[in-house]
Parts: sequence; C-alpha cells; structure tokens
Amino acid sequence: MISDLWYKNAVVYCLSVESFMDSDGDGVGDFRGLTRRLDYLHGLGVTAIWLMPFQASPGRDDGYDVSNYYDVDPRYGTLGDFVEFTHGCKQRGMRVLIDLVVNHTSNEHPWFKSARADPKSPYRDWYVWSKKKPAGADQGMVFPGVQKTTWTYDEKAKAYYFHRFYDFQPDLNTSNPEVQAELLRIMGFWIQLGVCGFRMDAVPFVIAEKGPDVGPKPKSQFQMLRDFREFLQWRKGDSVILGEANILPKEALQYFGDDGDRIQMMFNFWANQRLFLALATGDARPLAKALEETKPGYPTAQWGLFLRNHDELDLGRLTDDERAAVFAAFGPDKEMQLYDRGIRRRLAPMLKADRRLMELAYSLMFTLPGTPVLRYGDEIGMGDDLSLPERHCARTPMQWSAEKNGGFSNGAKTYLPAISGGGFGFETVNVAQQRRDPNSFLNWIERVIRMRHEVPEIGWGEMSLIPVRDKAILALRYDWRGAAVVVIHNLDPEPREVAFRSGADGDGDVRLVDLLGGEHSDPGPDGRHRFAIEGYGYRWFRAGGLDEAMRRKDV
Ligand code: GLC
Repeated sequence: MISDLWYKNAVVYCLSVESFMDSDGDGVGDFRGLTRRLDYLHGLGVTAIWLMPFQASPGRDDGYDVSNYYDVDPRYGTLGDFVEFTHGCKQRGMRVLIDLVVNHTSNEHPWFKSARADPKSPYRDWYVWSKKKPAGADQGMVFPGVQKTTWTYDEKAKAYYFHRFYDFQPDLNTSNPEVQAELLRIMGFWIQLGVCGFRMDAVPFVIAEKGPDVGPKPKSQFQMLRDFREFLQWRKGDSVILGEANILPKEALQYFGDDGDRIQMMFNFWANQRLFLALATGDARPLAKALEETKPGYPTAQWGLFLRNHDELDLGRLTDDERAAVFAAFGPDKEMQLYDRGIRRRLAPMLKADRRLMELAYSLMFTLPGTPVLRYGDEIGMGDDLSLPERHCARTPMQWSAEKNGGFSNGAKTYLPAISGGGFGFETVNVAQQRRDPNSFLNWIERVIRMRHEVPEIGWGEMSLIPVRDKAILALRYDWRGAAVVVIHNLDPEPREVAFRSGADGDGDVRLVDLLGGEHSDPGPDGRHRFAIEGYGYRWFRAGGLDEAMRRKDV
C-alpha cells in the first residue's frame, strides 16, 4: 500500500531543455533533442526528470519569467513535442516534474499588461500595488547587489508594483481567489499532458501575505499548500509538489504539515549548506545536527537532497564565520561569489576536480535522508564559465562529446558557448569519453545510483545517528521493515580509525556487509565495529547480510 509513494526511492535529474540537446541546429536545446537523450538518462538510473521552466517567456531570468503558462516557448518546440517527451518518459518508466513559477509572472505577460494599463482591468488585482512607495521598499531583495528595490513605480499604472525578485517579475497577488483558481488551472493543464508533479518555485513568497502594509515578516498562508495538494491528488493520485524554500528547519516542517497534509517534498537547503560546511572544515558535526533538526515528523514527507542546483550555492543560513570557511575552501575569489551569500560555481571546479572529494560529496548526497536530485552535467564533472554573468556561468551546454559545441548542437552559435579548453572543456570532459572509460566519474555515478535503488532503507527508513567520538566521521543508520543499513563517511582528508556499535540501541551487533566494495566488518569481542577508513572515505553497509532486505518482513 504505502510503497506506492514513488518519490521515496526516486533518483531525480534536473535539466533545462535549453541546455541539454539541440536537434535542429539553431543553437538552443529543444524537446526533440531531449527526447532523443532519454535512453541516456534511463541508463544512468534516473527515475524522474525535473525540467526547469520551458513555457513561453522573454527569457530575462532563464524562463523564470513566464509570459504564457499554457504554451511551450517556441525556441524549445511545441506542445506536441512536449507530449512526445512525456510519453517517451512514461515508456521508460520515468516521471516528469516541471517547474511551477507562480510567485510572479513576466512583466510582458498579458495579465500584467492589462493590469497596468487600466485600473478597472479584471487583472488589476492579480498583482500587488501601492499608490505611495512603501516604507520597506528597499528591503527584502532576493538578488542584493543586482536588484535595487522590491517596489518599482510604473508610469502606466501610476502606482508602485511589488516584485520580490527582479523588476521584470511582478508578484502575483496569490491571496486573490481568482489567482488561486488560475494556479490550479495551470497545474491541471500540465498534469493532463503527462507530468507527475511540480517543483514549486519560491514557495515562501507564493504563500506569503503581500501588500504595502505587510512588514518584513509576512504571515504564511499554509492553507494554500493543502489546497494545491488536494487538487493535484484528485486529478492524478501520484502527483507531488517539491517545494523550493530556503528557510529555517522549524518553518520547513510546517510546509509538510503536521499530518503530512501539505506538500510532500521540500529541498533541504539547511542540510545542503551544512554539507558544504562539513566538506570545507572536515567536521561532520554541523551536518549531523542539521539532519536531526530536519527530521520530518510524518512518513509521507520527504526531503529532496542536492549538491548544486541552477542557482548559486546559497550559504545565507550559515554564520558569518561558517560562510567564510566555505568561501575560503570553495570560492575564494570575489568573482566566484554572488549576492553576498553564495558561490556560483559548479561542483567539480569547487572541489578542484578531486575525485576523492567528489565521490565523498555524492556518496553523502545519495545516503542522507531523502531523495537525491542530480544536476545535469555534474555526473561527468562539468565546469563553469566565470566570464558569464551571475548564475549563467553554470548553465552552459551539456557536454556530450569532443565534437563541435561539445556535441550539443551543430549550429554556428549556441545560446551560451560550450566550455572549451582547460581542464573542464568539452574536449576532455564529455559523456562519450567517460562512457568508454570504466573508471570514469560517469560510470562511478551509474554504479552508485544502481546501488542506491537497491537500498530503499535510505529513502524510506527511519534515520538515526550512530554515536562516534571522531568529529570527522558521520555515521548513520537506517531501519526499514526489519532491515538496516549503516553508512559511514570520513570528512577528513587523512585516514581514520572508526569504532562504533551499529545497533541503533546498542544491542545485536552483527556483520556489516560492504555494499560497494568487499570490506565487510565483523564486530569485535566488545561488540564494536572497528576499522580504518581512508581519507574522504565512505562505506555503505547492510547490517546482517547483503540480502537482508530481501528477507525483510513486509509491514
Ligand atoms: C527561484 C529560482 C531562480 C529564479 C527565482 C525567480 O529562486 O530557483 O532561478 O531566478 O526563483 O523565479
């Protein structure tokens, strides 16, 4: 029964259609190209694809400024191509999540055009206006340093409009029942075309009260999340919402709802920032603490775990000293940093392409409590182009081969240049080359994903921290249906000796069978496991035996 929750043991891969595969040589990726690459994703072990926005858009924020929610941007193809794509996914057993960007529209959306042109427009109240410049107008910008204000005067409307993000992204008045009804209509439309759910953009802002008199801490209207979820589950029982919300753990748990009646999934930004802190300092304790703090209270709730995404690595929820430590390790130059809070680089260059560190980072992502979300290109260790502005540096074309434009397009010019030359250029870092090399990062990732599927304890089980004395060691145990998995990570570059009891409550220590290698561990006479683990090492074990999970009792 409850095993129907597909997202609990999924492997999600996020990509933008623009950057994946260009089928017609115009230099921009498209749905036809992406559809041809589905076997690649399927072969990697991906079970769900998350698409960044592909709806009609002026493209001033890479599609996060939608001008028509009911159409595919012509640069990427047609609705017909989209349905062929979702059908192709279905045939391979992969699900599709799409970005739902409804906190704001583009200022070129017909709703906004109508709203600003006429105070009597039926769309006037779909946006948020003020006659006078509100007191807090110069606070709460999401892109500090680039965005100057959150209220901009519109000559046509003769009023200020609210925009949490850039000024070309006016906020929708999401409290308006008509707007809410429209949001459901948008979801209903895409659900009908074959998607299985949404990555909801900027959720805290979608559900926040908005208006000139709202102070710096607007109230959240949680009922909206419940309404969205209810609607979706009526339309398509297995559809989910994955929320983007970089908030405090206490608040985040409210998004799941006390009875798990709000959204099913949330990105764990809290743990993400502490994961990078742990990698930077070799101290696993802040990460362990974050895992305790973000334990969801309800079994259907699930975290999405990621290393890098399409935005900057946001470190805004660390202390100044902690952030400085991560900057020093992974983004020391000003040009690598963004919005006074984050690092805009791709993962591989951040980790200096150190294979040990990259494996450690991914092993953590695949074994922390939740559902792993990979970013396109990170499976081959793609780099970034810091000469590009803001977040564009990490949105370059997928590197398929050593051919022209990295095999992404045979056009004369691409939407952004493929990374060429140096340690990360497509000439050396590409799928074709890594496919041929059994020891490549791509083949390592594929093996790890295969194993992750076979360890459902992680996605489904109850996580507990195993007490260890060494601060460099993170030791986790998962229990599910009578089977248990133990994962050990060494955050330090030097080898360590680890000693622990694997039993959750100290009893019944058994053989730990190494799932990725052959280094099994038997408890010593004192009942403790004791072994050496190499610098940045990781071990995935099943307690009792390899096939313990196969023999587990179904409950
Ligand atoms: C989210 C997206 C980001 C976008 C912003 C505005 O934070 O992840 O890429 O710019 O919302 O929609």
